[in-house]
Amino acid sequence: MSKLVKKAVIPAAGLGTRVLPASKVMPKEMLPIVDKPAIQYIVEEAVASDITDILIITNRGKGIIEDHFDHNIELEQHLEAGGRLETLEELRRINEMANITFIRQKEIKGLGHAVSCARSFVGNEPFAVLYGDDVIIGKDPACAQLCRAYEEFGKGVVGIKEVTPEQIVKYSSVAISRLYDNFYAVFDMVEKPKPNEFLSLFSILGRCVLPPEIFDILENTPASAGGEIQLTDAMKTLSRTVGMTGVDFTGIRYDMGDKLGILQATCEVALQHPEVGADFAAYLKKLVNTL
Ligand code: UTP
Repeated sequence: MSKLVKKAVIPAAGLGTRVLPASKVMPKEMLPIVDKPAIQYIVEEAVASDITDILIITNRGKGIIEDHFDHNIELEQHLEAGGRLETLEELRRINEMANITFIRQKEIKGLGHAVSCARSFVGNEPFAVLYGDDVIIGKDPACAQLCRAYEEFGKGVVGIKEVTPEQIVKYSSVAISRLYDNFYAVFDMVEKPKPNEFLSLFSILGRCVLPPEIFDILENTPASAGGEIQLTDAMKTLSRTVGMTGVDFTGIRYDMGDKLGILQATCEVALQHPEVGADFAAYLKKLVNTL
C-alpha cells in the first residue's frame, strides 16, 4: 500500500447533463448501484487504497452528498430501538470510513477548475483524483494500483484503458510506449480527439495521481472552446515536460454519467450481491428468454 499518497480529491460538482432529468435534483454521483450511491463505492475504493483524507468537490445543488457521509441521529436511534443493529453498523461505518471534507466549486468551469479548488487541501503532497461519476470495481483497488505506480516511477500517473474509436472521441487519447506489464510511459495526450488526432486507442478513465506542481500548471491552462478548464490540458503539459506513467488498471469501470453505464453497473453489481444476486440471476435468465 502507498505511503506517499494519503490524500484524495473526488470532483462531484458537474452538471450531469447526459443523465437528465434523473440528475436534475439528484446528483449523478448519488445514483444508486443496488443499495449504495455511486460515490460511496468511490470513497470505499479510496479507503481501501490507504487514503486517509478525502476532499469531495460539490456545488450548490449537491448538499445531499454531504448528508450521506454525515450522521443521521434520528435514523440511527430508530434502528437501534428496533434492534436492526446490522443496518445501524453499516450506516455508522459510512461516517467513519475516512476524514471526509467538502468544498464547493462556485462556478462549474470544468474538471481542471474543480481540481484547482483542492489546492489548499492538498498542500505540497501528491494526491489521487477519483472522478465522482466513475465507479471501478475490482479485487485490487484501481486507486491503489496508481498510487503504487507513483511510488515506483516518481511521476504523475493516469489510469488508462483501451477503448473503441467511437468511444475515444468522447474521452481522451494518450501517446504511450509500453514499459512492462500494464505500465506505460505517457508523453502526450489530447482531450476529445477528432479521428485524425488519435495518439492511440488508450484513454484516461476515471483515476489519476498528480504531483502538487499540477496546481501552477492549472493556473496557466486556458479554458477550452467550451469555456471549461480541462484537466487533460494541464496533464498534457505535465506529460510533455516531465512525463507521466499510464497504468492499464485491472477492474471494470462503470460510467455513472451515462445511461448505459448506470444499467451495466446495476446489473453486474446486483448479480454479485449476497442478498439479491441469486434471485436477480434467475430473473435475468427468464427475461433473456423473452428477448
Ligand atoms: P464529467 O465531464 O463526466 O461531468 O466530469 P459533467 O460535466 O457533469 O458531464 P455531462 O454534463 O454529463 O457531460 C467528470 C467528473 O468531474 C466532475 C463531475 O461531477 C464528474 O464527477 N466535475 C466536472 C466537476 O466537479 N466540476 C466540473 O466543473 C466538471
